[in-house]
Amino acid sequence: MVGLPGAGKTTRAKELAATHRALRLTPDHWMIPLFGDSMADGKRWVLEGRLISVALQALRLGTSVVLDFGLWSRDERSALRWLARSVGASCQVVYLPVDKDVQLARVAHRQETTPHQTFPMSEADLDAWREQFQVPDAAELDGGEIPTPPAGWPSWPEWAVAKWPSCTDS
Ligand SMILES: Nc1ncnc2c1ncn2[C@@H]1O[C@H](COP(=O)(O)OP(=O)(O)OP(=O)(O)O)[C@@H](O)[C@H]1O
Ligand SMILES: [Mg+2]
Repeated sequence: MVGLPGAGKTTRAKELAATHRALRLTPDHWMIPLFGDSMADGKRWVLEGRLISVALQALRLGTSVVLDFGLWSRDERSALRWLARSVGASCQVVYLPVDKDVQLARVAHRQETTPHQTFPMSEADLDAWREQFQVPDAAELDGGEIPTPPAGWPSWPEWAVAKWPSCTDS
């Protein structure tokens, strides 16, 4: 799942998981009960690494997986597409765009109705995150060729372990 906060990723991920009998992995649903925080001084990247490892184990067992992560950068998406392919799975990038007004309304509504599953987000936060977000291109959305890793990185698994400590295929 790719999209900004409030884009509707978790909502759609639940539908996809039900339709495809897939395992849904939603980091906030672990981070918030464990730490009361979505980031927790970088523990999020460790947790996501463990969830990627779980995802690869499930794929090896023939179970589909919905990674409900957000995945703002093309490199994150390329690394995960590569890892999925490495265990013989196909991978679909599901991007949910969201206009700012809709996003603001949804985030406010969610904060009122299900505060235990989310965290407060200001309009300034949302603006800054929108600047950082890299919209997926056509090749990513169509399952096209996976780009080579960024300069200095010999392979996507090595890039992935640097981004997500504990992201091992075991
Ligand atoms: N298609 C939709 N139409 C109307 N409301 C929606 C839609 N999808 C999601 N919502 C509502 O918008 C809010 C945000 O949705 P959701 O939690 O699925 O977003 P998210 O992308 O997972 O956000 P985050 O990145 O913060 O986890 C929720 O209150 C949800 O009920
Ligand atoms: Mg979500």
